[in-house]
Parts: sequence; structure tokens; C-alpha cells
Amino acid sequence: MKTKLDVLLGLQWGDEGKGKIVDYLSPRYDVIARFQGGANAGHTLKIEGKTHVLHLIPSGIFHEDKINIIGNGVVIDPVIFKEECDGLSALNVDFMKRLMIAKKAHLILPSHRMLDAVYERSKSADKKIGTTLKGIGPAYTDKTARLGIRVGDVLSKDFMMKYNLLKMNHLNIAQMYNFNVDDFEIDKKSFAEYETEWFLAIEYLKKFNLVECENVINNMLDNGKKILAEGAQGTMLDVDYGTYPYVTSSNTMSAGVCTGLGIAPQRVGRVFGISKAYCTRVGTGPFPTELFDETGEILRKNGGEFGATTGRPRRCGWIDLVQLKYSVMINGVTDLIITKPDVMNDFDKVLACTSYKINGNSLSDFPYDIEDDDLKPVYSEYRGWKTYLPYDKGFDNLPEDFKNYISELKNFLDVKIFLISTGPGREETLVVEE
Ligand code: GDP
Ligand code: IMO
Ligand code: MG
Repeated sequence: MKTKLDVLLGLQWGDEGKGKIVDYLSPRYDVIARFQGGANAGHTLKIEGKTHVLHLIPSGIFHEDKINIIGNGVVIDPVIFKEECDGLSALNVDFMKRLMIAKKAHLILPSHRMLDAVYERSKSADKKIGTTLKGIGPAYTDKTARLGIRVGDVLSKDFMMKYNLLKMNHLNIAQMYNFNVDDFEIDKKSFAEYETEWFLAIEYLKKFNLVECENVINNMLDNGKKILAEGAQGTMLDVDYGTYPYVTSSNTMSAGVCTGLGIAPQRVGRVFGISKAYCTRVGTGPFPTELFDETGEILRKNGGEFGATTGRPRRCGWIDLVQLKYSVMINGVTDLIITKPDVMNDFDKVLACTSYKINGNSLSDFPYDIEDDDLKPVYSEYRGWKTYLPYDKGFDNLPEDFKNYISELKNFLDVKIFLISTGPGREETLVVEE
């Protein structure tokens, strides 16, 4: 029987707990596939007390019988990919035969990483995007400009010529910005050292099963295989519908799964949208419910809110239901997943933004520009539950004040609550409604 592909994605500004939940849901699927983004992602899994962070490899990799696919919408830095593989080898995870890579995925060159730094350094402090400096923007720019190099090109005899041409192009741009590549380091290595590693990593990449991902995935769905697509970043970082220009360079929303894996819209089944019970953002850009007070500090400390890729402290604030309603709408979320309410277990009260006010006028729709200084969040207040949240006694046995808060979210967003996560561990997850 033919099956549909389910998709799981972040509804906020990333780091909602996608890695943990994909790992938790993996036993239900045959295949896990990443469809966009690159190593700007940092997906954390906690298995039997040990923490693992994945950047490019899908979060199903720790389940021995699952196939994992890096789809054509992803941009791949081979050096980071190899480092991640080496980390898995050190843990005796047997991954090579279970990991497919789309030939149509684009490569991130060392000079893409250089350009990411060039562009960031050229901006004034308030205009910097605060990128992860992984070369994401420049690689997607070249893809759209029809200049990029794809994974499938590594098998072509013109590969070196293509590489040198593109690198030259990038060095010319750097020169226009008076940027000296000789003073530039990538992950504490000189450009030349990184480039040497990059070519070694290309040889390593060739050992993998490089596939036409669209054929593989459609065949699998025709043959009844269950596939989960794993989003990276979050909806508010979507290049079209996020808080532009403070966004990433891919379509992080559910529509991205069609272009990112080569499937038709009617093949998409459930859309799992993940939100924290509060909100975070890393990097620059508007964040209406951001807290600059002690509560923000407590969220950061209790929630361990430091970037899984860059280590930067994450900005923290209350959950924003206006923003979430917008994300639910543009993704067609069928199932909501709430993570990290345990971070607020000690709170006397919990707030949620339910509308915005601008110059005295109330806005209930997410506006074009949320950067406006006059835009103020309007909050509803809920009683804190003030106790530990058990994950193993069912939803009905959770504290009344917590259930009340969750049912407010459900009613406001008008979407079913599927899962609640009450801790980083695989097991700390409870099903609310299937
Ligand atoms: P992702 O990018 O969406 O995969 O999220 P990250 O891994 O960047 O950040 C989520 C962080 O929260 C990680 O450190 C997870 O281990 C942790 N985490 C996930 N779910 C929960 C939860 O329900 N409670 C707590 N306290 N931590 C969680
Ligand atoms: P996961 O998958 C949070 C942010 C960066 C920056 C902006 C653009 O772990 O949720 P980029 O390097 O993509 O050009 O940076 O996007 N960003 C993320 N923030 N989680 C992520 O991924 C992110 N990936 C990119 O901080 O503001
Ligand atoms: Mg993350």
C-alpha cells in the first residue's frame, strides 16, 4: 500500500527540540530524511544519559535498522560531514550502509564559509544577521544563481575545474570587500589547511551511496515505507515567511519538504509542529516577547539555552501565540508537540502573548514587520504548576494547572496536541492524543 510522508519541523526560531523528538519517533518509521539547511543546525539527542549533537546527519541514525537520507535541499560541508561520521564511528554506530546522500544536494566550499564571514563583517553591528558562519547563505545564493557545485559533481571529470572557477569567483568578491583570505581561519584552521581537509573529505563522501533522492523516496512511498522528514531551523527563520532579513537561506516550512526531497504535496501526511513552552532565538532580529529580566535569565539557565552549534547564549522569552498561530497556518500543522515545560516547573505564573498592540491598536494577525519599536505584546497569565511533571503516568495525571495551560494553547491554536516532552531524555516524552 502506498504511504504518505510525515514531516516534523520547528514552529519558532529553531532549537525547539526537533532532534530529541525525531529520535523518539524514529521507531515508528523506516526512513528519516533531512530536507533543507546544513550544519547551521544542531540537533541534540540524549540517549541512555549520553548527549549527542547532530548537524547534518538525520536524527534517526542511532536506531540501527533505520535508513537516513540527506536530501537534495540540504547544503553539505564535507569536512563537517566527515567529522560527524568520525564521531559516530568512535561510538561504534554502523552508519555507512544506512546513510544515503542526494546527488542534487549542493556543496559548501571553504570559500562559501569565507564569504559568510565577509558579508557579516561588512555589516554594521545592528545589521549583522548573526549567522552560524557555516557558509549557508553563500551556498544557497550560488544554488539560486546557478553557479553551485552539487554532490553528484564529485564524480565528474570537470570537478576540479568547477571548484577552481567558483573559488576564484568568491576570492574576487572578497577582494572587493578588502578581505584578506590569508588572515582568515575556518574552525581554527588556515584557509589552505581547511581546503586540504575539504578535498580529503570529498574522497570520503564518494564512499557513500549517492542517490537520486526523489526516485528513492517516491519508490519507497509507493512500496509502503514510512518516512519522516526532519526539519532544521524553525518557521520564523524561513527565507520567505520568517523575520526577513534575519532568517536563514532555505525554506524551513513544510512546503520545503516537496522541493527538498522531490515529492508532490499530496504525498505529505501528518505535519508535526514543535514549539517550546516558552520561546528562544539565537542571532539578531526581532523577538517581541523577549525577556531582559531575571525571568529570561532563569529560562536560559534552567533550559540550558546555549547554541548546540555555536555555543552562543540564546535569547529567551515567553511563548508567542500570535507568532505560533501564523506558523501553524503556513505549515498546515496537524499535530502540535510541546517541549521543555519542565524548565518552568518552579514558576509562580506563566505568560503567553495572545495579541500585539501597535500605537494603541490591537493586532491579532502576525504583521509584515515585527521589528517596529511600537509593537508591544499583550499577555495572558496562567497559574504555574509548581511541581515536577512526570512523563510516565499519562496526561490525565499531570497537575491541573499544567493541563489548563496546555488546553489554553490547544484552544488558541486550534490544533491537536500530540506529544509533550518533559526532559531531554528519549523516554521523557508522553503521548497526549494520537
Ligand atoms: P533542535 O535544534 O530543535 O534539535 O534543538 P536543540 O537540540 O538545539 O535544543 C534543544 C535543547 O533542549 C537540547 O539541549 C535538548 O537536549 C533539550 N531538550 C529537548 N527537549 C527537552 C525537554 O522537554 N525538556 C528539557 N529540559 N530539555 C529538552
Ligand atoms: P536548528 O536546526 C537556531 C539562525 C542563526 C542566524 C540565522 C541565519 O538547530 O534549530 P545561517 O547560519 O543559517 O545563515 O544563520 O539563523 N540559525 C539557527 N537558530 N537553530 C538553528 O538550527 C539555526 N540555524 C540557523 O543563528 O540568526
Ligand atoms: Mg538546534
